[in-house]
Amino acid sequence: MTINADKIDRQAKRILRNNDRGGYTVPTSGLYPYQWNWDSAFTAWGLATFDIKRAWFEIHTLFTGQWDNGMVPHIIFHKRADGYFPGPDVWGVPRVPHTSGITQPPVAATMIRAIYEQDKRYGRVHMELVYGRLISWHRWFMANRVEDGMVAITHPWESGRDNAVDWDGGMGNVDGSGVGDYTRRDTAHVDPDMRPKKEDYDRYLTMVYYGRDCGWDEGQIREGSPFRVADVGMTFILLRACRDLLMIAHDLDHLTDEIEGWIRTLEAGVARHWNPDGFYDSIDLRSGDFSGSLSSASFLNWYAGIENDQMAIHLHDILDRVEFGVPSFDPRREGFEPLRYWRGPVWGMMNALIAIGLEEQGHVQIAAKLRKDTQRLIAEHGFFEYFSPVEGTPAGGGAFSWTAAIWLTWAGPHARGHF
Ligand code: GLC
Repeated sequence: MTINADKIDRQAKRILRNNDRGGYTVPTSGLYPYQWNWDSAFTAWGLATFDIKRAWFEIHTLFTGQWDNGMVPHIIFHKRADGYFPGPDVWGVPRVPHTSGITQPPVAATMIRAIYEQDKRYGRVHMELVYGRLISWHRWFMANRVEDGMVAITHPWESGRDNAVDWDGGMGNVDGSGVGDYTRRDTAHVDPDMRPKKEDYDRYLTMVYYGRDCGWDEGQIREGSPFRVADVGMTFILLRACRDLLMIAHDLDHLTDEIEGWIRTLEAGVARHWNPDGFYDSIDLRSGDFSGSLSSASFLNWYAGIENDQMAIHLHDILDRVEFGVPSFDPRREGFEPLRYWRGPVWGMMNALIAIGLEEQGHVQIAAKLRKDTQRLIAEHGFFEYFSPVEGTPAGGGAFSWTAAIWLTWAGPHARGHF
């Protein structure tokens, strides 16, 4: 199939414009009608390819949600919107704009650096404004969430990989039976077979109520929460983000000791994520057990600046078995579901992060293959939330912001994301 790149570029830009709600961009209309943290960072990166001012605006709007303790929440509920549950009333966070009570993967420093690289001259003032915000957020992670150098999550939604196999063990400790009645809204937008199951949702909500009942106090949650998992994806992403923050700090002539210390701590944590079965894995911090899940997040080691031969062997082997890499769960394992959300499907933004890392570490061919796969998926099927790695079947929400952003920055033939 020949690709009409100009036409698809125009479609991508149109999606980002249409999903603009006035200074912030929703992931997709209907299913996700607010500002999501890491979606917004990817979107800003995409916007920067054709509207740099709007890109900075997206970043500043994201940080209007930052808490006094530095945490940047996973959702910012700027305006009332229908069609999403649990909304601001359920989270019970007493601030404006309303927010959720948990965070999401800190890709922001990395995306902001990419934006700054292409706007060095005029972007400096934005970078100065945002720098302290990034430092406070990372400091919050280091103080509250980093245990033995690994990043702990308190809710599966913090990982950005909501129903990944990584959380099955940890969520087994959560009793969702007392959650009461509620109406899910996601399954009104998307085929329920492509979404998390009801028993998962009962537990997700139970954990939201738990955090709210703790007043979102980090100490109390750390002490008592039944769910606390060291997320391999979060550790890699935060480590990479700290490396980018360090470069920004050098550029702006800020002190760097603190950031250098964070990098050392997280590098030590990466080693602890190594499952003796031979891959990077998440760990249930309550039981000490590895999740036993080789997922797309396991392959973020190169993105975090860490070379590993065994991971390269796994990657080749997995890519030999599917048409489109990288599946969110190992297709060689039982439990692989090619169309159920984070239990098999391939996601464009994960491919971008994995491939950027691979390319930086010299694995140029395999990075190019992932880019080609992602390009084909989008060109042949459209800007969907995710796809089957087996057949490329599109799934989840359509006209998705981060898929459009990834096309413009990395996957499309004219991509210009400046990494
Ligand atoms: C889902 C995804 C998460 C994403 C959000 C909005 O919850 O798992 O990663 O940020 O949707 O797109």
